[in-house]
Amino acid sequence: MKNLIDDISILDDSQTEEACETVKVSKKTNTGKERKLYIESYGCQMNFSDSEIVSSIMSENGFDTTSEFKEADVIFLNTCSIREKAEQTVRARLSQFNTIKKERPEMMIGVLGCMAERLKSKLLDEEKIVDLVVGPDAYRDLPNLVEKVDDGQKAVNTFLSREETYADISPVRLNSNGVTALISIMRGCDNMCSFCVVPFTRGRERSRDPYSIVKEAEDLFNKGFKEVTLLGQNVDSYKWSPEVNNKAKLERSNISEIINFANLLEMVAKVSPELRVRFSTSHPKDITDEVLYTIKKYENICNYIHLPVQSGNSRVLELMNRTYTREWYINRVDAIREILGDDCGISSDMITGFCSETEEEHKDTLTLMDYAKYDFSYMFFYSERPGTLAEKKYEDDIPLEIKKRRLSEVIAKQKELSLERNLRDVGKIHKVLIEGTSKRSQEQLQGRNTANKVVIFDNNGLPKGSYTNVLVTECNSATLFGKVVDQENDL
Ligand code: SAH
Ligand code: SF4
Ligand code: F3S
Repeated sequence: MKNLIDDISILDDSQTEEACETVKVSKKTNTGKERKLYIESYGCQMNFSDSEIVSSIMSENGFDTTSEFKEADVIFLNTCSIREKAEQTVRARLSQFNTIKKERPEMMIGVLGCMAERLKSKLLDEEKIVDLVVGPDAYRDLPNLVEKVDDGQKAVNTFLSREETYADISPVRLNSNGVTALISIMRGCDNMCSFCVVPFTRGRERSRDPYSIVKEAEDLFNKGFKEVTLLGQNVDSYKWSPEVNNKAKLERSNISEIINFANLLEMVAKVSPELRVRFSTSHPKDITDEVLYTIKKYENICNYIHLPVQSGNSRVLELMNRTYTREWYINRVDAIREILGDDCGISSDMITGFCSETEEEHKDTLTLMDYAKYDFSYMFFYSERPGTLAEKKYEDDIPLEIKKRRLSEVIAKQKELSLERNLRDVGKIHKVLIEGTSKRSQEQLQGRNTANKVVIFDNNGLPKGSYTNVLVTECNSATLFGKVVDQENDL
């Protein structure tokens, strides 16, 4: 079996179904605490961000994190349920850890995140493969639950909250390059896309206090970070007002305004012009022109929008309960191109072989991709999830080979488009934020341009976290390559 520990990669680098196989492992923090925690995180950026909150809570309670599971007293797997394969990966990993536990019975194994929420105490009672099961809204209870396990009991808390945003918890940056960081701005999801398990595993949507978000961004900037990504399942429905948050109203009775996502973006952008701001995920039904104009107004808000379409056919979109049509989506792409220009990066998610999708409808996805000219996409074949609307209402009737063949066509189309889009960048100068040395060679540095494209260039000693101008001279479908130039003199 592939050793996942050797496969620590950045989610954005994977453009296929393998994205869900991405795993991040906690790094070492050694502050002399008594016990050691090892966390592996699967799934989306929200989960990676949550693991940083978990580490913070555990750190307050006597745990340093370790990157070696062999020296850990407690092992947490922060899990994902989005597709069946994501859960299978976690199960395989759990059985590896259980083999180790036979030799070290005192080692505690906990399942956190979406799979914990979906399966609840089943993992403890029926499957007997873990000591502790904790859902995404119950991490404050972790110290108590760990104590319970210490006392020889099994522990579970999968309570879903309508309020919890962990706003006051200062995350321990786990996989940090010291340059880019994730900030969670909301939790849960109130949409009911029929294929999706997230509303069941993450609960109702709630927005975090904007002032705590700005403070977190300021703290990161003061520590030398240069880029923050604001995270939510549907950032465009971010909405915060003292009226919906009574506690905050009491504390700040002079504040009466409603803060929407455009307002929040602006507040974070004002932290410093040197701090880049990204965000994910935008929902096509909710993204407003106000947001697009705010991106245009601030140079440090990146020109890149992740706008998952899922399907290019209106009938399939209706079955998916996405609440927009192909025409609506096209209108939003037109608005992006009109307001932000052709260079604005756009990426997407696509699902092939959804219930009853015909060959013609699948082709509509390919033509929509051509229209939108995505820079890259995450592409999946449909995986039926228990408890979702689609599982209850529709038959999962497209054979696996057809789902996979359609997926390979979508991937091939995306590769073609990515190359086409990257070729447009050749010969142009890009402002790149340096993230560190290239994964492939110490001789080269890597960073991203505003459109979220990876740019690789010769290491000329510039420190990570600095901005530099790179003339792109070559590309492939995944990466841009170039050389550092002084914009005024080197052209
Ligand atoms: N909130 C984001 C998506 C989060 S899940 C949005 O609305 O766009 C990430 C991606 O996983 C989805 O965009 C979708 O493409 C994919 N996905 C979700 N459920 C799936 C399923 N049952 N089978 C296959 N892919 C799925
Ligand atoms: Fe799932 Fe839809 Fe919510 Fe995204 S918007 S998390 S796809 S239910
Ligand atoms: Fe997976 Fe949960 Fe994220 S199901 S994609 S980890 S919200």
